[in-house]
Amino acid sequence: MLYITKILDFSATHRLFNPELSDEENFEIYDKCSNLNGHGHNYKLEVTVAGIPGETTGYVMDLKVLKQLITDVIIDKVDHKNLNMDVDFLTGVIPTCENLCIAFWNELVPKITTGKLHRIRLFETDTSFVDYYGKKN
Ligand code: NI
Repeated sequence: MLYITKILDFSATHRLFNPELSDEENFEIYDKCSNLNGHGHNYKLEVTVAGIPGETTGYVMDLKVLKQLITDVIIDKVDHKNLNMDVDFLTGVIPTCENLCIAFWNELVPKITTGKLHRIRLFETDTSFVDYYGKKN
């Protein structure tokens, strides 16, 4: 099995809060990340697909195709957006890095028909990231 990865960036704003909790409780949990008017991140998204290179192509998956897919399915919907308000597939989701990974996985997994989606890695800062390998892991 081989693993190919495409890396793309996007910038977005969010506010971490659980609408079922009071503002005080939210600030206790999320502190500055629950700032009423939000705050921004420069995210880095890594998408890894696993597979066997095709006999004709030598590719697990054409990385140009993967880049276009990630752009269409995720980047165009989240870049320069408010993750709490602007993204259809994030409605009702607390936009933590963890939940973003799960949501991105769910959007991408049905679209990957060559090879198999293996990992979503999302950097929220240079020193903080989350990995998601799907429900099984
Ligand atoms: Ni944040």
